[in-house]
Amino acid sequence: MPESRKEPKSKYTADRNIPGAFEGETVTRRRFMTLTTHAAGGIATAAVLLPALGFAAGSALFDRAPVLWTPVGKPEDFPDDNYLPRVVTLTQGIGEVGKATVYVRRFNPEFDAQEGMPAPPETDAPVIVLSSRCMHLGCPIRWTAAAERFICPCHGGVYGFNGEVVGGPPVRPLDRFYTRLRNGQVEVGPRYSVNSEFRRFPSYRDPGQPLDGIGQYLYPGRFSTPKNP
Ligand code: FES
Repeated sequence: MPESRKEPKSKYTADRNIPGAFEGETVTRRRFMTLTTHAAGGIATAAVLLPALGFAAGSALFDRAPVLWTPVGKPEDFPDDNYLPRVVTLTQGIGEVGKATVYVRRFNPEFDAQEGMPAPPETDAPVIVLSSRCMHLGCPIRWTAAAERFICPCHGGVYGFNGEVVGGPPVRPLDRFYTRLRNGQVEVGPRYSVNSEFRRFPSYRDPGQPLDGIGQYLYPGRFSTPKNP
């Protein structure tokens, strides 16, 4: 019995008797539209998904800036009822641009150990170090001892003695800095952010990002934030 051989299918849709096929067409218009729609859907999904995945996995994939510690003096150099300004290095190798003013005072149980306030880790030096960056849009704030307020000149932001917001548009208290004691010297390390109850967040957030309620989930820390001690 002769072996039956299957005729190879023609690549042209007209030869395959597909309804509505045109002469010389190899892909039906329906199939073409389906593929185009799938491709467009894939691109749109990737545009949303890839940045989110990069953000989530970023800290594991990219090197973070090294942690820098700047000595600023002995604990007894600082009063516990007033702030002294000090300059610390935040980013190495870019000169003055990498430096920032911070405000330092000694730990004071009257202000820092009130009910409901989180206890500072034992590894911290007995000082409080506040950032001079306004939590509205990032302008430099200034400590005004006579009024016991930090004042921002840009839009009238006002902060109380602990850096809590008492007026104007800032969305959260002033950022703080990790500290440690080495050879009797207070060293100032990475910056971190706090919410209105002074709960410490493991890394800092940008100005304008509230950290109370749902805000703490909407604004995750950047992967470029230096690793905390
Ligand atoms: S930047 Fe400080 S109040 Fe606007």
